[in-house]
Amino acid sequence: MDRRVVVEASNVSKKFRLIKERNNSLKATVMRGRRVIAEDFWALREVSFGVLEGETFGLIGENGSGKSTMLKCLTKILRPDHGSVRVDGKVSALLELGAGYHPELSGRENVFLNGAILGVSQRELKGKFDQIVDFAGVGEFIDEPVKNYSSGMYVRLGFSVAINVDPDVLFVDEVLAVGDEAFQRKCNEKFTELRHAGKTVVIVSHGLAVVQNLCDRVAWFSHGHLMDVGTPRSVIEAYTETVHVDRQVDEAGHARWGTGEGRIVGVDWLDRDAQPAARLRCGEPAWLRLFYETQQPIEQPVFGISIRTLEGFEVSAPTSKDTDCVPDKIEGTGHVDVSFDSFRLLPGTYDLTVSLHDYGLVQTFDARRDLLRFDVERGPLHDRSGIVALGGEWRVVADDDS
Ligand SMILES: Nc1ncnc2c1ncn2[C@@H]1O[C@H](COP(=O)(O)OP(=O)(O)O)[C@@H](O)[C@H]1O
Ligand SMILES: [Mg+2]
Repeated sequence: MDRRVVVEASNVSKKFRLIKERNNSLKATVMRGRRVIAEDFWALREVSFGVLEGETFGLIGENGSGKSTMLKCLTKILRPDHGSVRVDGKVSALLELGAGYHPELSGRENVFLNGAILGVSQRELKGKFDQIVDFAGVGEFIDEPVKNYSSGMYVRLGFSVAINVDPDVLFVDEVLAVGDEAFQRKCNEKFTELRHAGKTVVIVSHGLAVVQNLCDRVAWFSHGHLMDVGTPRSVIEAYTETVHVDRQVDEAGHARWGTGEGRIVGVDWLDRDAQPAARLRCGEPAWLRLFYETQQPIEQPVFGISIRTLEGFEVSAPTSKDTDCVPDKIEGTGHVDVSFDSFRLLPGTYDLTVSLHDYGLVQTFDARRDLLRFDVERGPLHDRSGIVALGGEWRVVADDDS
């Protein structure tokens, strides 16, 4: 049987213009005046591949490797600088969280707005409305403004619209990672259903197990280059061979700034034996280690970390100064440990930013945004939903004195 190529990227290159921020102190900004240092950055370089009708096709690769940019080119949100894309059939997509959603409007109004963007008639939407709300499981929240939604609800509604408008080709970015387990199971079932119905699905995921189970073929991106396309097994194997398990990535795809007197040269989650941790579990102890290196002695350094969800919500951003852990001086190389008796992030995927500052937090010596992406798994603490498990103790007391 000859299957048609329904999604095709031919020699796609996409560049972004980056503003270089060598030193972001106020003084430096003032001194530099109006001069802006810009540099072209190629997020995709001559990428070509085709997806066959009915295929479930996965995109994998490190943070910043160009997967989302590829999806945006395929869905015509971005235009390639070179090359071309072609997609046959009715397209539906779930890209960034909340993209195309209006915060002040209710879920109901947004379903119609979003459907219209996807080119679905209002009549068709009316007919599918109950099915959409039901799959999303947002209940009576459907008439609340979506700004009151949790990120999980946002994703569920977005995904529900995207799949229920009966697309021929569905594009999904890794946003689904924010849903809870039950919803993810439902999504995976839906993908299987779409596959049986002969629909084409292009999915970005860093969950390699998901990709392995779901996809017919996989494309691996690295620094904007297409490295390999093939069966999930062979591509995932090639990919994991080149990648450190904790997905620590180099500077190429990431914002890094600072004056450079001291630098953060690495970061690792450790287990209780001070070995790189295989997994983090909600409610279990955890240890984070930052490695530093200095060009010259730094007096009273302050280290900072920031943990963000995939949608960019900052969960927590403590510094060593908050707990009065400020050495008189650091010089040469060393490390900083942050220990958590009970690590309270709920299961999900997070990005870690690290930084090194002077005591007054006026100067940044080094800041590395999203240096490490990590997963938290289910553990002894679990809350029904949200981002953190605060671990409160509950007690019910009846008012009568019987
Ligand atoms: N609008 C933009 N402006 C500048 N740089 C961008 C923009 N969008 C993405 N990038 C950069 O392009 C690279 C690829 O990004 P992206 O496609 O989002 O990667 P991935 O989805 O694989 O994590 C990254 O280095 C990112 O910082
Ligand atoms: Mg992405």
